[in-house]
Order: sequence, then C-alpha cells, then structure tokens
Amino acid sequence: MALVLQFRNVSKKFGALAAISDLNVDFKPGIITSVIGPNGAGKSTAINLAGGAYPLSGGAIFLDGRDITGLPPYKLAQSGVSRTFQNLRLFEDMTLIEHIEVCELTRTFRQVPLEVFWPPAARRMAVEREKRAMAVLDKFDLAGIGHVRARDLPYGHRKLLEIARAIAVRPRVLFLDEPAAGLNFKETRALGERLLALRSPDLIIVLIEHDMDMVMRLSDEIYVLHQGRLLAHGTPDQIKGNTDVQTAYLGSPNDHQALQAAARTRESRVRIRTGEGVTWH
Ligand SMILES: Nc1ncnc2c1ncn2[C@@H]1O[C@H](COP(=O)(O)OP(=O)(O)O)[C@@H](O)[C@H]1O
Ligand SMILES: [Mg+2]
Repeated sequence: MALVLQFRNVSKKFGALAAISDLNVDFKPGIITSVIGPNGAGKSTAINLAGGAYPLSGGAIFLDGRDITGLPPYKLAQSGVSRTFQNLRLFEDMTLIEHIEVCELTRTFRQVPLEVFWPPAARRMAVEREKRAMAVLDKFDLAGIGHVRARDLPYGHRKLLEIARAIAVRPRVLFLDEPAAGLNFKETRALGERLLALRSPDLIIVLIEHDMDMVMRLSDEIYVLHQGRLLAHGTPDQIKGNTDVQTAYLGSPNDHQALQAAARTRESRVRIRTGEGVTWH
C-alpha cells in the first residue's frame, strides 16, 4: 500500500475553463511538498478537490491506497484531510483555546455522554482538553494569549491560529494555502521555522505559497502548475534551474536574469518591458 496522497489523471472543468488537466502528483509524508505556479494556475482548485469542495471532472484521488474520490468534506476530514484557507476563516468571538478545543471535541465526541452525566469526569476532561489545546498553541508560540478572542488578534497571529487549528485534528494531510500572505519578513521567517518543526513521518504537508524564498527554503519537493497542467517537478535546486518554470513566471530566462540582477542593486526603479527582455530606468 502506498503511503501517500496521489492524484491520478485528475481534471477539473468550470464550464469551458479547464482549471486542472490530467494532473498526476504524489504527496509524501515526512517532508514538505510545495505547489507553486502563477495566479490562476489551479493550485487552490487542487486543494479544493482533495478536500471534497467540488466533484472531479475526471481522474481519482487516493490516500494511503484508498480511493477517496467524491467523498463529502466531512468524510475527508475524518480520513485526516485538514487545511487552511487562502482567506482566513476564524470564529471571531471565540478564544484561541476554544478554537483548538472545538477540534478536540470533534475527535473525542464519543466521550460526550460521559461528560454530560458524570460531572467529575467532565471537569477532569475539560482540564485535559485545555492542556492539550495549550500544547498545540505552544507549537506556534500562542499559548500565552490562549484566552484572547480571535477578533482581538493581529493578522500574523490569526494566520498562525488557523494553522494551529488545522493541526489540532491530528491530520494525515495538511494543506496550507498561502500561509505567508500578508505576513512581514520576520513573521514569514518565524512561520517557516514552525512549519519545518511540524514535519513528521505520519504527516503529509502540502504548501501553496507565492513567497519563493520561503518555498525554496522549506520544500523538499516542488510541483509547478501552469494553466492547470503540471509543468515541472523536482527539488528546489532543480526547479530554480528549470527554464520552463522561469518562462511561465517571468516571460523568458533573460527576463529572469535581468530581474535578479536588478533586484541585487536594491534601488527603486521603474521597470519597462521591451521585446528584448526587461530594461531598467
Ligand atoms: N469555483 C470556481 N468557479 C469557476 N472558476 C473557478 C472556480 N475556482 C477557480 N476557478 C478558476 O480556475 C482557475 C484556477 O484557479 P485557482 O485554483 O484558484 O488558481 P490559483 O490558486 O493557482 O491561483 C482560475 O482561472 C480560476 O478563475
Ligand atoms: Mg489560490
């Protein structure tokens, strides 16, 4: 049995638009795999398909050898597929601890009758639940503000809470959709450290991210999507040197070199694209 999340010839059409075409990818546990590509490449759609947000137009998805194609989102969640969203989705009036405890409850709901009918057990379980929630928050340096309500959190902490919540269900697969979006340099670096620490032999981590510095630093493997198709697959070094990838992102390899050279000068310039590549004024 293959211990991976596999997309096999997966396609997704929205009307006439082919958002994903004949996609074959393997996401393995123990490593961080990134999915990159220009806007509209189909990255979020791929996650949405694995999470059961809408049906596939073709192909199949397997988790640890089991066909999970077409399962409803709650069944997929029970199978261990967990995710964050490109746009934050938090419960504004709930504290950080409560966010994590909700996940705990869904995992331990069979104990609820015991809690209801036996108050001493209820108190003990509540204490244990809070302890476990604090341990999850601690992984993201959020334990100290566990009693703060989500609506009072700064943006960087909100993003971390969303990831903490996705981890709290002890998933088999963790999809992160642009976790660094909107974070400053220092927050992004700190988030990167947290994500590296999450790697474990049981967990498949899939990172979708625009911040190339972060992708290159964290990823063990990278898949590049372009217009719904797989353009390249490899290690960060292989992807950096791939001319197809440079062309998809930047127009041509010459553009890429010009951009890199210009970035090194650290001056504020106006970029003008010409037929020959990129010139700087
Ligand atoms: N629910 C939807 N209905 C119609 N078109 C969609 C829907 N979701 C995504 N698309 C289209 O599918 C393509 C891929 O989108 P998406 O997966 O969000 O790209 P990415 O996350 O790589 O930026 C885009 O052209 C987008 O407009
Ligand atoms: Mg997206």
